[in-house]
Amino acid sequence: MTWWRSAAIYQIYPRSFADGNADGVGDLAGVRARLPYLASLGVDALWFNPWYPSSGADGGYDVIDYRDIDPVYGTLAEAEKLIAEAREFGLRTIVDIVPNHVSHLHPWFVNGRRELFWFRDRPNNWKSEFGGSPWTQLPDGSWYLHLFTAEQPDVNWTHPLVRAEHEDVLRFWFDRGAAGVRIDSAVLPVKDPLLPDQVDGEPHPFVDRDELHDIYRSWRAIAESYGAILIGELWLPDASRFAKYLRPDELHTAFNFDFLACPWDAARLRASIDTTLAAHAPVDAPATWVLSNHDVTRVVTRYGRADTSFSFGAKRAGVWSDVALGTRRARAAALLAMALPGAVYVYQGEELGLPEYEVPADAIRDPMHFRSGGVDPGRDGCRIPLPWSGASPPYGFGSTPTWLPQPDGWEGLTVEAQDGAPDSMLNLYRGGLHLRRAFGGGMAWRDAPPGVLSFARAQGGSCTTNLSSTPIPLPPGELLLSSVPLEDGLLPPDATAWLTPA
Ligand code: GLC
Repeated sequence: MTWWRSAAIYQIYPRSFADGNADGVGDLAGVRARLPYLASLGVDALWFNPWYPSSGADGGYDVIDYRDIDPVYGTLAEAEKLIAEAREFGLRTIVDIVPNHVSHLHPWFVNGRRELFWFRDRPNNWKSEFGGSPWTQLPDGSWYLHLFTAEQPDVNWTHPLVRAEHEDVLRFWFDRGAAGVRIDSAVLPVKDPLLPDQVDGEPHPFVDRDELHDIYRSWRAIAESYGAILIGELWLPDASRFAKYLRPDELHTAFNFDFLACPWDAARLRASIDTTLAAHAPVDAPATWVLSNHDVTRVVTRYGRADTSFSFGAKRAGVWSDVALGTRRARAAALLAMALPGAVYVYQGEELGLPEYEVPADAIRDPMHFRSGGVDPGRDGCRIPLPWSGASPPYGFGSTPTWLPQPDGWEGLTVEAQDGAPDSMLNLYRGGLHLRRAFGGGMAWRDAPPGVLSFARAQGGSCTTNLSSTPIPLPPGELLLSSVPLEDGLLPPDATAWLTPA
């Protein structure tokens, strides 16, 4: 089964997708009611951000029970129904597994199973992924490690129970029909057991430790026995270290954050594509193409800024964006990503061209904002409840107040508004996701002027993206789809066209 090698995977952030019971929070009933929408988009699978009971400190990534559903979303029985119903629509389900940490309200932590965590008499010099120290002191004077928030204690992977528990959780979801798992923070779970200070030039004490590969090999064996897949969240700058996780007996695929973070620049994008393909080829893993997710700035906003790259450390509030320009580029980028060989990800709302919405200060929920001392605006702005219909909040989402506020002015971005508009972002995504199914095989670059990316796929056609400032003639072939209309037969700037094979 190789569906995943060229799949389109839609990411659902359950809290903000659709609200079935009108309490202002998305839920499984909301997703079930929208399965026809998802099927009509032309995606092959749904990845759900964590839907487990959670202490709510980090958008569900602080899990209390990996074998249940948070009551705010529904029940386990309903999740089973959803998985089965989605399958009838041709949509596979991928669940999010969080191996690095649990909630501070997880029974292991509550019951004082200290051997399953990292307790020490004093902190070391490590830095939290969210800023500040990753150590918190308990009333008895001892300190425990948490690479994210204090509500997310890191578990100790040298303990056999931690391994056994996660392997059992994998089986639990595969038994319920999950077609795969997305592995959260997949380069972080293993620590140097001595917890030494981090020293420049020394092996990193908690990122990308060699022992991880053995863990993922045993996960792969379990996944294989179900025909399920493993997708890694690997934030690793080194492409060759990254590819090691994709060896044939480890993870099936991993998110391509290099492409996601790349600025809107032809040479940089081409280099990212080449590096990606070169890193994946030796391990025979398919590449993935990702423009956004629940952690990063919305694409139409990012591409409309002076600096079109993404990086966590550089996030600031109130950076001006030409959203019309960003939207035009995002349309071109979507067709580029969809035409490349491998799998493509669509984060909910990307298909609607939603911009980042920086919520008012008193509505901010994201711990990244608070742990940065307020410097980082946080990730709420890409997690706003989806606008489905109507002219004002809650835009058909459920009822107001929604758990994060929606802005005014999104009436033109609702599914209802875009559904019948041939030129909408939604219909561009639908067209692209359906047509890309004809693309197959490898890709070969064509000669193109500076600022232009042009390649042909072995099957299905070719893709040309114009990042230069002048309109360009297209290579031979009939037009299949373009991100904006051609002008006098030429492809204008910030646009992509797909053509039939020459
Ligand atoms: C991953 C998730 C992010 C979360 C973090 C901690 O990076 O994508 O949303 O905050 O892990 O679990």
